[in-house]
Amino acid sequence: MFRPAKAAPRPVEPAGGQGGGAVPRHIAIIMDGNGRWAKAKGLPRAAGHKQGAEAARKVLRAAGEAGVECLTLYAFSSENWRRSADEVGDLMGLLRFYLRSEIEALHKEGVRLKIIGDYKAFAPDIVKLIEEGVARTSSNRRMTLAIALNYGAQAELVQAARRLAERAAAGEIAPATIDEAVIGAELDTADLPPLDLLIRTSGEYRLSNFLLWQAAYAELLFVDTLWPDFGAEALAAAIAAYCGRERRFGGR
Ligand code: IPE
Ligand code: IPE
Ligand code: MG
Repeated sequence: MFRPAKAAPRPVEPAGGQGGGAVPRHIAIIMDGNGRWAKAKGLPRAAGHKQGAEAARKVLRAAGEAGVECLTLYAFSSENWRRSADEVGDLMGLLRFYLRSEIEALHKEGVRLKIIGDYKAFAPDIVKLIEEGVARTSSNRRMTLAIALNYGAQAELVQAARRLAERAAAGEIAPATIDEAVIGAELDTADLPPLDLLIRTSGEYRLSNFLLWQAAYAELLFVDTLWPDFGAEALAAAIAAYCGRERRFGGR
């Protein structure tokens, strides 16, 4: 179903002036607007989340077919605990359902599942399902699906800073050797390709604590479509918009 991923890895450092024209290697999406989609239809918010999960499935498939190497989906932020217990419960129920029903399909399609964020804060059965899913799909190479769960970019950077400070205090590294590559290697995304395209749906223009470091030179695309209405065509349009951009990375 998917086109095979490109065999030769590209360098982690972006090459100045390149990027436009080629399919993005790594797309991240802030999947926003489930609640408004449901409200507009007179449905409970949970129905929006369910339809949103279906959209994620379609977009993953379309991304694989387009030759995207990595798709990172923001599914639950470290701030989403602020929602009502009912809504958090609905989201956890959906997560459980999809982890139980989708892992084999991901595996058959050659998709490696990766989680970014502090997923260990979830219920023990969800943590177990996540770890089983990650282990089951770990050798897959066609594409990576990274799901951000209990993810916050600031917390990710705090963790990285703490780990490096501990190593420096223990005399294992000299502070002067800490550079962008060293910090990048401490982030949850260390093994992912550089972020090329960051999409947010639902007409909101903010990053909501998502991939703040990784977005340094990503192309940003904000679309009005509510996430449950986003699908293969919308992804193709986003990729086309990306291909038409000129990336400069600070060069001319
Ligand atoms: C995004 O949709 C899904 C999650 C944050 C889990 P929302 O639930 O934020 O939908 P809106 O923004 O209220 O429409
Ligand atoms: C961002 O959406 C988080 C996810 C899509 C998982 P939110 O709906 O939580 O963000 P804000 O509250 O509008 O910034
Ligand atoms: Mg929202």
